[in-house]
Amino acid sequence: MSVQTDVLTPTLRKPRLEDGADLWSLVKETGVLDVNAAYTYLMLCRNFQDTCVVAEMDNSVVGFVSAYIHPKQPDTLFVWQVGVSESQRGQGLATKMLQALLQRQSCLNIRYLETTISPSNKASQALFRKLARDFDAYCAVSMCFQTDQFPDDHESELLFKIGPFKKTELNTN
Ligand SMILES: CC(C)(COP(=O)(O)OP(=O)(O)OC[C@H]1O[C@@H](n2cnc3c(N)ncnc32)[C@H](O)[C@@H]1OP(=O)(O)O)[C@@H](O)C(=O)NCCC(=O)NCCS
Repeated sequence: MSVQTDVLTPTLRKPRLEDGADLWSLVKETGVLDVNAAYTYLMLCRNFQDTCVVAEMDNSVVGFVSAYIHPKQPDTLFVWQVGVSESQRGQGLATKMLQALLQRQSCLNIRYLETTISPSNKASQALFRKLARDFDAYCAVSMCFQTDQFPDDHESELLFKIGPFKKTELNTN
């Protein structure tokens, strides 16, 4: 006898103000990402919903992407933080969140994606290189923030610039 089980998959949506505290907790739990002030995550939920993504499953936040459109380069989406709960990693969730974001109406004019990644964060580098491959786009890497520009012992941050995206590949829904 076979037993049918429902496989839950995360729902992707824009963040709400009530998500702010959960985003902060998720970032803290990664143990890798910079834990910014709780206020920051509330502000993202309040002011940058159109360029942020929350993945929700079983009434819990299991993933998020924070991003904004570069104020001086309106064709560039700057991705700030990406986090996925440990239990949901390796299943394509981060990729799905980034693809969903790029297909939003708010990203209609986006041709490039920028993000910064520390040299030791191989998972994040793999994520963004895969995204570039998926869109058949270039991925240029250069230095962004040097260690001595931070007030603490923060690792340096490399700038990953992906694009140009071809118009037909984005905004397909
Ligand atoms: C980085 C992170 C967001 C990836 O989330 P995810 O949902 O597991 O990623 P995906 O399943 O979409 O994987 C995308 C690609 O990255 C690769 N990847 C993911 N985790 C990896 C790891 N630990 N090591 C090497 N490659 C990894 C996947 O294999 C996949 O590439 P492929 O299709 O060529 O095999 C997740 O590991 C995480 O939250 N880490 C802690 C926080 C962090 O480092 N955030 C990124 C910095 S902003």
